[in-house]
Amino acid sequence: SSTPPSITIHPEHTIAQINDNIYGGFTEHMGRCIYGGIYDPSNPLSDANGFRKDVIDAMKELNVPVVRYPGGNFVATYHWLDGVGPKDKRPKRPELAWLGIEPNTFGTDEFMKWCEIVGTEPYLCLNFGTGTLDEALGWLEYCNSTQDTYYANLRRANGHPEPYNVKYWALGNECWGPWQVAQLSKEAYAAQAYQWAKALKLLDPSITLILCGETGYSSWDAYVLKECVRWDVHGLSGSTTKSLIDMHSIHVYTADNTSHIANATAPRGAERAIQMASALIDLARIENRVPETVPRPLVCFDEWNVWDPVRAPGELGAEEKYTLSDALAVAVFLTGFIRQARDLGMANIAQSVNVISPLMTSKDGVMKQTTWWPLLLFSKYMRGQSVAVNVRAEEYLGRTNPGWIRGTIETPFLESCAAVQDGWVNLAVTNVSEEKDYVVPIDGLKEGKVDVFTVGGENVSVVNTEAEQKVGIKEGTWDGKGPYRFEKHSFTLLRWKA
Ligand code: AHR
Repeated sequence: SSTPPSITIHPEHTIAQINDNIYGGFTEHMGRCIYGGIYDPSNPLSDANGFRKDVIDAMKELNVPVVRYPGGNFVATYHWLDGVGPKDKRPKRPELAWLGIEPNTFGTDEFMKWCEIVGTEPYLCLNFGTGTLDEALGWLEYCNSTQDTYYANLRRANGHPEPYNVKYWALGNECWGPWQVAQLSKEAYAAQAYQWAKALKLLDPSITLILCGETGYSSWDAYVLKECVRWDVHGLSGSTTKSLIDMHSIHVYTADNTSHIANATAPRGAERAIQMASALIDLARIENRVPETVPRPLVCFDEWNVWDPVRAPGELGAEEKYTLSDALAVAVFLTGFIRQARDLGMANIAQSVNVISPLMTSKDGVMKQTTWWPLLLFSKYMRGQSVAVNVRAEEYLGRTNPGWIRGTIETPFLESCAAVQDGWVNLAVTNVSEEKDYVVPIDGLKEGKVDVFTVGGENVSVVNTEAEQKVGIKEGTWDGKGPYRFEKHSFTLLRWKA
Protein backbone atom coordinates (compact mmCIF):
# COMPACT_ATOMS: atom_id res chain seq x y z
CA SER A 1 0.00 0.00 0.00
CA SER A 2 1.14 3.57 -0.48
CA THR A 3 -0.28 4.88 2.82
CA PRO A 4 2.70 6.18 4.78
CA PRO A 5 3.46 4.53 8.13
CA SER A 6 2.62 6.30 11.37
CA ILE A 7 2.49 5.67 15.10
CA THR A 8 0.03 7.22 17.52
CA ILE A 9 0.64 6.84 21.23
CA HIS A 10 -1.91 7.71 23.90
CA PRO A 11 0.02 7.90 27.20
CA GLU A 12 -3.12 8.85 29.12
CA HIS A 13 -5.02 5.80 27.83
CA THR A 14 -3.80 3.07 30.19
CA ILE A 15 -4.67 -0.52 29.34
CA ALA A 16 -3.49 -2.35 32.45
CA GLN A 17 -0.78 -2.63 35.05
CA ILE A 18 2.16 -4.63 33.68
CA ASN A 19 2.93 -7.44 36.10
CA ASP A 20 6.67 -7.30 36.93
CA ASN A 21 6.68 -11.10 36.90
CA ILE A 22 6.52 -11.12 33.09
CA TYR A 23 10.31 -10.72 33.26
CA GLY A 24 10.68 -14.06 35.05
CA GLY A 25 13.36 -16.68 34.46
CA PHE A 26 13.53 -20.45 34.44
CA THR A 27 16.32 -22.76 35.63
CA GLU A 28 15.93 -26.45 34.89
CA HIS A 29 18.14 -29.42 35.66
CA MET A 30 18.83 -29.71 31.95
CA GLY A 31 22.10 -29.52 30.01
CA ARG A 32 24.39 -26.85 31.48
CA CYS A 33 21.69 -24.71 33.08
CA ILE A 34 22.15 -25.69 36.73
CA TYR A 35 25.44 -27.60 36.67
CA GLY A 36 28.01 -25.41 34.92
CA GLY A 37 25.52 -22.57 34.67
CA ILE A 38 24.34 -21.23 37.98
CA TYR A 39 26.22 -23.85 40.07
CA ASP A 40 29.88 -24.42 39.33
CA PRO A 41 31.69 -25.05 42.64
CA SER A 42 35.13 -25.78 41.21
CA ASN A 43 35.23 -22.58 39.14
CA PRO A 44 37.20 -19.63 40.60
CA LEU A 45 34.36 -17.34 39.40
CA SER A 46 32.03 -18.97 41.98
CA ASP A 47 31.28 -17.87 45.53
CA ALA A 48 31.52 -19.98 48.70
CA ASN A 49 28.13 -21.57 47.87
CA GLY A 50 29.43 -22.70 44.48
CA PHE A 51 27.25 -20.17 42.67
CA ARG A 52 28.67 -18.38 39.64
CA LYS A 53 29.00 -14.73 40.64
CA ASP A 54 28.96 -13.50 37.04
CA VAL A 55 25.62 -15.25 36.47
CA ILE A 56 24.21 -13.74 39.67
CA ASP A 57 25.32 -10.28 38.51
CA ALA A 58 23.65 -10.82 35.14
CA MET A 59 20.38 -11.89 36.81
CA LYS A 60 20.54 -8.78 38.99
CA GLU A 61 21.16 -6.60 35.95
CA LEU A 62 18.08 -8.12 34.28
CA ASN A 63 16.14 -7.55 37.51
CA VAL A 64 14.55 -11.01 37.28
CA PRO A 65 11.60 -11.00 39.70
CA VAL A 66 10.77 -14.73 39.81
CA VAL A 67 12.52 -17.95 38.72
CA ARG A 68 10.85 -21.27 37.91
CA TYR A 69 12.58 -24.48 39.06
CA PRO A 70 13.50 -27.44 38.79
CA GLY A 71 11.83 -28.15 35.42
CA GLY A 72 10.47 -28.47 32.84
CA ASN A 73 10.40 -32.06 31.76
CA PHE A 74 13.04 -32.88 34.38
CA VAL A 75 10.52 -32.55 37.19
CA ALA A 76 8.52 -35.58 36.03
CA THR A 77 10.91 -37.98 37.83
CA TYR A 78 12.28 -35.60 40.45
CA HIS A 79 12.01 -36.43 44.13
CA TRP A 80 12.82 -33.32 46.11
CA LEU A 81 13.95 -35.27 49.17
CA ASP A 82 16.92 -36.55 47.13
CA GLY A 83 18.18 -32.97 46.95
CA VAL A 84 18.19 -31.92 50.61
CA GLY A 85 20.43 -32.73 53.57
CA PRO A 86 24.16 -33.51 53.66
CA LYS A 87 25.52 -33.58 50.10
CA ASP A 88 27.54 -36.77 50.57
CA LYS A 89 24.36 -38.62 51.51
CA ARG A 90 22.33 -37.45 48.52
CA PRO A 91 21.63 -40.21 45.99
CA LYS A 92 22.58 -40.06 42.32
CA ARG A 93 19.62 -41.00 40.14
CA PRO A 94 19.01 -41.87 36.52
CA GLU A 95 17.28 -38.89 34.95
CA LEU A 96 14.66 -39.84 32.42
CA ALA A 97 13.74 -36.56 30.72
CA TRP A 98 17.18 -35.77 29.33
CA LEU A 99 18.69 -39.21 29.97
CA GLY A 100 21.54 -38.15 32.20
CA ILE A 101 22.53 -38.83 35.80
CA GLU A 102 21.24 -36.41 38.42
CA PRO A 103 23.83 -35.90 41.17
CA ASN A 104 21.42 -33.96 43.42
CA THR A 105 24.23 -31.75 44.71
CA PHE A 106 22.00 -28.77 43.93
CA GLY A 107 18.51 -28.97 45.42
CA THR A 108 15.84 -26.99 47.22
CA ASP A 109 18.00 -25.27 49.86
CA GLU A 110 20.65 -24.34 47.30
CA PHE A 111 17.99 -22.92 44.98
CA MET A 112 16.42 -20.89 47.80
CA LYS A 113 19.82 -19.49 48.74
CA TRP A 114 20.53 -18.59 45.11
CA CYS A 115 17.16 -16.82 44.84
CA GLU A 116 17.88 -14.88 48.01
CA ILE A 117 21.25 -13.71 46.67
CA VAL A 118 19.80 -12.80 43.25
CA GLY A 119 16.86 -11.03 44.94
CA THR A 120 14.23 -13.06 43.12
CA GLU A 121 11.21 -15.17 44.13
CA PRO A 122 11.23 -18.95 43.75
CA TYR A 123 8.53 -20.67 41.70
CA LEU A 124 8.46 -24.46 42.17
CA CYS A 125 6.97 -27.02 39.81
CA LEU A 126 5.51 -30.22 41.26
CA ASN A 127 6.19 -33.74 39.97
CA PHE A 128 3.03 -34.97 38.23
CA GLY A 129 4.91 -37.87 36.63
CA THR A 130 6.27 -40.26 39.26
CA GLY A 131 5.49 -37.99 42.22
CA THR A 132 2.78 -38.45 44.82
CA LEU A 133 0.48 -36.02 46.60
CA ASP A 134 2.21 -36.92 49.86
CA GLU A 135 5.54 -35.84 48.43
CA ALA A 136 4.06 -32.59 47.11
CA LEU A 137 2.54 -31.81 50.49
CA GLY A 138 5.85 -32.65 52.14
CA TRP A 139 7.70 -30.22 49.85
CA LEU A 140 5.20 -27.43 50.59
CA GLU A 141 5.50 -28.13 54.31
CA TYR A 142 9.33 -28.15 54.07
CA CYS A 143 9.34 -24.79 52.29
CA ASN A 144 6.58 -22.87 54.01
CA SER A 145 5.51 -24.33 57.34
CA THR A 146 6.26 -22.75 60.71
CA GLN A 147 4.63 -25.60 62.66
CA ASP A 148 6.31 -28.25 64.77
CA THR A 149 5.90 -30.96 62.11
CA TYR A 150 8.18 -33.46 60.39
CA TYR A 151 9.18 -31.70 57.17
CA ALA A 152 9.27 -28.22 58.73
CA ASN A 153 11.62 -29.71 61.33
CA LEU A 154 13.68 -31.37 58.61
CA ARG A 155 14.21 -27.92 57.06
CA ARG A 156 15.27 -26.60 60.47
CA ALA A 157 17.62 -29.57 60.93
CA ASN A 158 19.13 -28.76 57.54
CA GLY A 159 20.03 -25.32 58.84
CA HIS A 160 17.04 -23.21 57.78
CA PRO A 161 14.95 -22.16 60.77
CA GLU A 162 12.85 -19.67 58.79
CA PRO A 163 10.31 -20.77 56.18
CA TYR A 164 11.03 -19.89 52.57
CA ASN A 165 7.44 -18.76 51.91
CA VAL A 166 7.38 -20.06 48.35
CA LYS A 167 4.36 -18.44 46.82
CA TYR A 168 4.21 -19.94 43.32
CA TRP A 169 3.57 -23.67 42.76
CA ALA A 170 2.85 -25.35 39.44
CA LEU A 171 0.62 -28.40 39.17
CA GLY A 172 2.97 -30.31 36.85
CA ASN A 173 4.68 -29.46 33.59
CA GLU A 174 3.51 -30.29 30.04
CA CYS A 175 1.68 -33.36 31.37
CA TRP A 176 0.00 -33.64 27.95
CA GLY A 177 3.30 -34.19 26.09
CA PRO A 178 4.07 -37.56 24.48
CA TRP A 179 7.67 -37.02 25.63
CA GLN A 180 6.61 -37.22 29.26
CA VAL A 181 7.73 -40.17 31.37
CA ALA A 182 4.12 -40.44 32.52
CA GLN A 183 1.94 -38.69 29.96
CA LEU A 184 -1.58 -37.98 31.18
CA SER A 185 -4.90 -37.71 29.42
CA LYS A 186 -6.71 -34.44 29.99
CA GLU A 187 -9.31 -36.27 32.07
CA ALA A 188 -6.70 -37.91 34.31
CA TYR A 189 -4.77 -34.65 34.67
CA ALA A 190 -7.79 -32.53 35.54
CA ALA A 191 -8.91 -35.01 38.22
CA GLN A 192 -5.43 -35.13 39.76
CA ALA A 193 -4.85 -31.38 39.55
CA TYR A 194 -8.19 -30.63 41.21
CA GLN A 195 -7.51 -33.06 44.05
CA TRP A 196 -3.92 -31.90 44.64
CA ALA A 197 -4.94 -28.24 44.47
CA LYS A 198 -7.51 -28.72 47.23
CA ALA A 199 -5.03 -30.52 49.48
CA LEU A 200 -2.21 -28.03 48.85
CA LYS A 201 -4.47 -25.07 49.62
CA LEU A 202 -5.66 -26.72 52.81
CA LEU A 203 -2.05 -26.94 53.97
CA ASP A 204 -1.20 -23.40 52.85
CA PRO A 205 -4.06 -21.22 51.58
CA SER A 206 -1.68 -18.35 50.80
CA ILE A 207 -0.03 -20.04 47.80
CA THR A 208 -0.63 -19.25 44.14
CA LEU A 209 -1.41 -22.40 42.15
CA ILE A 210 -0.68 -22.70 38.46
CA LEU A 211 -2.59 -25.17 36.31
CA CYS A 212 -0.77 -27.00 33.52
CA GLY A 213 -2.10 -25.78 30.20
CA GLU A 214 -0.81 -26.48 26.73
CA THR A 215 -0.62 -23.81 24.02
CA GLY A 216 -3.54 -21.84 25.41
CA TYR A 217 -5.89 -22.81 22.59
CA SER A 218 -6.15 -26.60 22.66
CA SER A 219 -8.89 -28.95 23.80
CA TRP A 220 -6.58 -29.75 26.74
CA ASP A 221 -6.65 -26.10 27.82
CA ALA A 222 -10.42 -25.87 27.47
CA TYR A 223 -11.05 -29.12 29.35
CA VAL A 224 -8.69 -28.66 32.31
CA LEU A 225 -9.88 -25.09 32.84
CA LYS A 226 -13.51 -26.17 32.79
CA GLU A 227 -12.80 -28.91 35.36
CA CYS A 228 -10.54 -26.93 37.70
CA VAL A 229 -11.57 -23.27 37.62
CA ARG A 230 -14.14 -23.63 40.41
CA TRP A 231 -14.68 -21.99 43.73
CA ASP A 232 -17.08 -24.26 45.64
CA VAL A 233 -14.44 -26.59 47.05
CA HIS A 234 -13.96 -28.15 50.42
CA GLY A 235 -11.87 -25.91 52.63
CA LEU A 236 -12.63 -22.88 50.53
CA SER A 237 -16.36 -23.44 50.45
CA GLY A 238 -18.45 -20.50 51.35
CA SER A 239 -15.66 -18.20 50.24
CA THR A 240 -16.60 -15.91 47.42
CA THR A 241 -13.19 -14.31 47.31
CA LYS A 242 -10.79 -17.25 46.95
CA SER A 243 -10.05 -19.38 43.95
CA LEU A 244 -8.54 -22.84 43.72
CA ILE A 245 -6.52 -22.13 40.59
CA ASP A 246 -4.79 -18.78 40.30
CA MET A 247 -3.02 -19.02 36.96
CA HIS A 248 -3.04 -21.12 33.81
CA SER A 249 0.32 -22.03 32.30
CA ILE A 250 1.02 -22.00 28.55
CA HIS A 251 4.21 -22.65 26.55
CA VAL A 252 5.22 -21.44 23.11
CA TYR A 253 8.56 -21.87 21.36
CA THR A 254 8.98 -20.38 17.91
CA ALA A 255 11.66 -20.68 15.22
CA ASP A 256 11.16 -20.61 11.51
CA ASN A 257 14.16 -21.29 9.34
CA THR A 258 12.33 -20.58 6.08
CA SER A 259 13.00 -16.84 6.23
CA HIS A 260 13.99 -14.06 8.56
CA ILE A 261 10.54 -12.48 8.37
CA ALA A 262 8.85 -15.78 9.24
CA ASN A 263 11.24 -16.24 12.16
CA ALA A 264 10.93 -12.72 13.56
CA THR A 265 7.14 -12.53 13.29
CA ALA A 266 6.24 -16.07 14.47
CA PRO A 267 5.90 -14.83 18.10
CA ARG A 268 2.75 -12.97 17.04
CA GLY A 269 1.14 -16.36 17.69
CA ALA A 270 2.16 -16.09 21.35
CA GLU A 271 0.10 -12.95 21.75
CA ARG A 272 -2.85 -14.71 20.19
CA ALA A 273 -2.32 -17.63 22.58
CA ILE A 274 -2.67 -15.29 25.58
CA GLN A 275 -5.91 -13.91 24.18
CA MET A 276 -7.29 -17.37 23.51
CA ALA A 277 -6.29 -18.81 26.90
CA SER A 278 -7.94 -15.79 28.57
CA ALA A 279 -11.12 -16.43 26.65
CA LEU A 280 -11.11 -20.07 27.83
CA ILE A 281 -10.57 -18.90 31.41
CA ASP A 282 -13.58 -16.58 31.13
CA LEU A 283 -15.67 -19.35 29.60
CA ALA A 284 -14.84 -21.77 32.43
CA ARG A 285 -15.83 -19.13 34.97
CA ILE A 286 -19.12 -18.49 33.22
CA GLU A 287 -19.93 -22.19 32.84
CA ASN A 288 -19.02 -22.95 36.46
CA ARG A 289 -20.82 -19.86 37.73
CA VAL A 290 -17.80 -18.55 39.57
CA PRO A 291 -18.79 -15.32 41.34
CA GLU A 292 -17.14 -12.19 40.02
CA THR A 293 -15.67 -11.57 43.47
CA VAL A 294 -13.38 -14.58 43.03
CA PRO A 295 -10.14 -13.38 41.42
CA ARG A 296 -9.91 -14.27 37.75
CA PRO A 297 -6.99 -16.61 36.93
CA LEU A 298 -4.30 -15.02 34.78
CA VAL A 299 -2.15 -16.55 32.09
CA CYS A 300 1.27 -17.77 33.21
CA PHE A 301 3.49 -17.97 30.11
CA ASP A 302 6.05 -20.02 31.97
CA GLU A 303 8.09 -21.13 28.95
CA TRP A 304 8.65 -18.92 25.93
CA ASN A 305 11.52 -18.31 23.55
CA VAL A 306 12.95 -18.92 20.11
CA TRP A 307 14.03 -22.58 19.92
CA ASP A 308 14.59 -25.15 17.26
CA PRO A 309 16.21 -28.23 18.85
CA VAL A 310 17.27 -29.47 15.42
CA ARG A 311 19.26 -26.38 14.48
CA ALA A 312 20.65 -25.69 17.97
CA PRO A 313 24.10 -27.05 18.73
CA GLY A 314 25.26 -28.46 22.05
CA GLU A 315 24.00 -31.10 24.35
CA LEU A 316 20.29 -31.86 23.76
CA GLY A 317 20.10 -29.33 20.91
CA ALA A 318 19.70 -26.71 23.58
CA GLU A 319 22.62 -24.32 23.21
CA GLU A 320 21.05 -21.99 20.68
CA LYS A 321 23.28 -19.43 18.97
CA TYR A 322 20.95 -16.50 18.62
CA THR A 323 21.02 -14.24 15.58
CA LEU A 324 19.77 -10.67 15.24
CA SER A 325 16.64 -12.16 13.66
CA ASP A 326 16.06 -14.10 16.90
CA ALA A 327 16.60 -10.94 18.96
CA LEU A 328 13.85 -9.24 16.95
CA ALA A 329 11.63 -12.30 17.55
CA VAL A 330 12.22 -11.88 21.30
CA ALA A 331 11.21 -8.22 20.99
CA VAL A 332 8.01 -9.31 19.21
CA PHE A 333 7.24 -11.82 22.00
CA LEU A 334 7.69 -9.13 24.65
CA THR A 335 5.67 -6.60 22.65
CA GLY A 336 2.72 -9.00 22.76
CA PHE A 337 3.20 -9.48 26.52
CA ILE A 338 2.97 -5.72 27.11
CA ARG A 339 -0.08 -5.40 24.88
CA GLN A 340 -1.80 -8.26 26.73
CA ALA A 341 -0.76 -7.01 30.18
CA ARG A 342 -4.29 -7.25 31.51
CA ASP A 343 -4.34 -11.04 31.18
CA LEU A 344 -0.72 -11.95 31.83
CA GLY A 345 0.29 -12.74 35.41
CA MET A 346 3.76 -14.09 34.74
CA ALA A 347 6.12 -15.08 31.93
CA ASN A 348 9.41 -16.97 32.15
CA ILE A 349 11.97 -16.99 29.42
CA ALA A 350 13.12 -20.55 28.85
CA GLN A 351 15.72 -20.63 30.08
CA SER A 352 17.93 -18.34 32.18
CA VAL A 353 21.41 -19.75 31.55
CA ASN A 354 23.08 -21.87 28.80
CA VAL A 355 19.96 -23.81 27.79
CA ILE A 356 18.07 -21.91 25.06
CA SER A 357 19.25 -18.80 26.82
CA PRO A 358 20.35 -15.22 26.19
CA LEU A 359 23.16 -15.83 28.71
CA MET A 360 25.96 -18.33 28.12
CA THR A 361 28.77 -19.31 30.46
CA SER A 362 32.23 -20.59 29.73
CA LYS A 363 34.82 -21.35 32.38
CA ASP A 364 36.14 -17.81 31.91
CA GLY A 365 32.99 -15.73 32.08
CA VAL A 366 29.55 -15.00 30.66
CA MET A 367 28.57 -14.04 27.13
CA LYS A 368 25.43 -12.10 26.30
CA GLN A 369 23.72 -13.31 23.17
CA THR A 370 21.82 -11.04 20.76
CA THR A 371 18.53 -11.81 22.53
CA TRP A 372 19.83 -10.46 25.84
CA TRP A 373 19.66 -6.84 24.66
CA PRO A 374 15.96 -6.38 23.83
CA LEU A 375 15.13 -8.39 26.94
CA LEU A 376 17.26 -6.05 29.07
CA LEU A 377 15.65 -2.93 27.57
CA PHE A 378 12.15 -4.30 28.13
CA SER A 379 12.93 -5.34 31.69
CA LYS A 380 14.48 -1.95 32.48
CA TYR A 381 11.87 0.31 30.92
CA MET A 382 8.69 -1.50 29.93
CA ARG A 383 7.11 -1.63 33.39
CA GLY A 384 4.29 0.27 35.01
CA GLN A 385 1.15 0.76 32.95
CA SER A 386 0.72 -0.59 29.44
CA VAL A 387 -0.70 2.19 27.27
CA ALA A 388 -2.50 2.26 23.94
CA VAL A 389 -0.50 2.64 20.77
CA ASN A 390 -1.66 2.40 17.15
CA VAL A 391 0.61 1.59 14.26
CA ARG A 392 -0.02 2.04 10.58
CA ALA A 393 2.81 0.06 9.13
CA GLU A 394 2.58 0.70 5.38
CA GLU A 395 3.22 -2.94 4.66
CA TYR A 396 1.72 -5.99 6.26
CA LEU A 397 2.82 -9.50 5.83
CA GLY A 398 0.01 -12.00 5.72
CA ARG A 399 1.28 -15.17 7.32
CA THR A 400 -0.16 -18.42 8.53
CA ASN A 401 0.97 -19.15 12.00
CA PRO A 402 2.96 -22.27 12.67
CA GLY A 403 1.50 -24.78 15.05
CA TRP A 404 -2.13 -25.28 15.67
CA ILE A 405 -3.46 -21.78 15.03
CA ARG A 406 -4.97 -21.92 11.58
CA GLY A 407 -5.58 -18.90 9.43
CA THR A 408 -3.67 -15.82 8.62
CA ILE A 409 -2.49 -13.21 11.04
CA GLU A 410 -1.82 -9.83 9.52
CA THR A 411 1.64 -8.97 10.70
CA PRO A 412 2.96 -5.45 10.30
CA PHE A 413 6.62 -4.81 9.56
CA LEU A 414 6.54 -2.38 12.46
CA GLU A 415 5.52 -3.83 15.83
CA SER A 416 4.94 -1.56 18.78
CA CYS A 417 3.85 -1.30 22.42
CA ALA A 418 4.19 1.37 25.07
CA ALA A 419 4.37 1.79 28.82
CA VAL A 420 4.21 4.65 31.29
CA GLN A 421 6.02 4.62 34.62
CA ASP A 422 7.22 7.26 37.07
CA GLY A 423 6.39 10.08 34.68
CA TRP A 424 8.27 8.53 31.75
CA VAL A 425 6.73 7.35 28.49
CA ASN A 426 8.46 4.36 26.89
CA LEU A 427 7.75 3.39 23.30
CA ALA A 428 9.13 0.11 21.95
CA VAL A 429 9.26 -0.34 18.17
CA THR A 430 10.56 -3.35 16.25
CA ASN A 431 11.19 -2.95 12.53
CA VAL A 432 11.36 -6.53 11.23
CA SER A 433 11.93 -5.50 7.60
CA GLU A 434 15.18 -6.76 6.18
CA GLU A 435 15.29 -4.08 3.50
CA LYS A 436 13.58 -0.91 4.59
CA ASP A 437 14.07 1.85 7.09
CA TYR A 438 10.75 3.45 8.00
CA VAL A 439 10.50 7.19 8.56
CA VAL A 440 7.55 7.53 10.88
CA PRO A 441 5.71 10.50 12.40
CA ILE A 442 4.89 9.76 16.05
CA ASP A 443 1.71 11.44 17.19
CA GLY A 444 1.61 11.87 20.97
CA LEU A 445 5.37 12.20 21.39
CA LYS A 446 6.54 15.34 23.19
CA GLU A 447 9.26 17.40 21.57
CA GLY A 448 12.28 17.86 23.78
CA LYS A 449 14.84 15.36 24.98
CA VAL A 450 14.12 11.81 23.90
CA ASP A 451 16.46 9.03 25.01
CA VAL A 452 17.06 6.53 22.26
CA PHE A 453 18.20 2.91 22.67
CA THR A 454 18.70 0.80 19.54
CA VAL A 455 19.52 -2.88 19.08
CA GLY A 456 20.57 -3.64 15.51
CA GLY A 457 23.37 -5.09 13.43
CA GLU A 458 24.89 -5.46 10.01
CA ASN A 459 22.44 -8.12 8.89
CA VAL A 460 19.82 -10.41 10.42
CA SER A 461 22.21 -13.37 10.65
CA VAL A 462 24.85 -11.82 12.91
CA VAL A 463 25.53 -13.53 16.24
CA ASN A 464 27.52 -12.55 19.29
CA THR A 465 30.55 -14.57 20.30
CA GLU A 466 32.88 -14.43 23.25
CA ALA A 467 35.39 -12.67 21.03
CA GLU A 468 32.99 -10.16 19.51
CA GLN A 469 29.71 -8.52 20.58
CA LYS A 470 28.26 -7.63 17.20
CA VAL A 471 24.84 -6.86 18.66
CA GLY A 472 24.42 -4.65 21.70
CA ILE A 473 22.64 -1.45 22.71
CA LYS A 474 23.44 1.86 21.02
CA GLU A 475 22.43 4.83 23.15
CA GLY A 476 21.71 8.36 21.99
CA THR A 477 19.30 11.28 22.24
CA TRP A 478 16.93 12.95 19.80
CA ASP A 479 15.05 16.27 19.94
CA GLY A 480 11.70 14.61 19.18
CA LYS A 481 11.12 16.86 16.17
CA GLY A 482 9.65 15.49 12.95
CA PRO A 483 9.41 11.83 12.05
CA TYR A 484 11.77 9.20 13.46
CA ARG A 485 13.76 6.85 11.25
CA PHE A 486 13.41 3.25 12.45
CA GLU A 487 16.29 1.44 10.84
CA LYS A 488 15.76 -1.84 9.06
CA HIS A 489 16.03 -5.01 11.18
CA SER A 490 16.30 -3.17 14.47
CA PHE A 491 14.62 -2.72 17.81
CA THR A 492 14.26 0.83 19.17
CA LEU A 493 13.15 2.12 22.54
CA LEU A 494 12.27 5.81 22.75
CA ARG A 495 11.82 7.32 26.18
CA TRP A 496 10.72 10.80 27.22
CA LYS A 497 9.26 12.68 30.19
CA ALA A 498 5.46 12.69 30.07
O1 AHR B 1 12.74 -25.68 28.24
C1 AHR B 1 13.05 -26.92 27.69
C2 AHR B 1 11.91 -27.92 27.76
O2 AHR B 1 10.91 -27.53 26.86
C3 AHR B 1 11.20 -28.03 29.08
O3 AHR B 1 11.81 -28.93 29.93
C4 AHR B 1 9.85 -28.53 28.70
O4 AHR B 1 8.86 -28.15 29.61
C5 AHR B 1 9.65 -28.01 27.29
O5 AHR B 1 9.20 -29.00 26.45
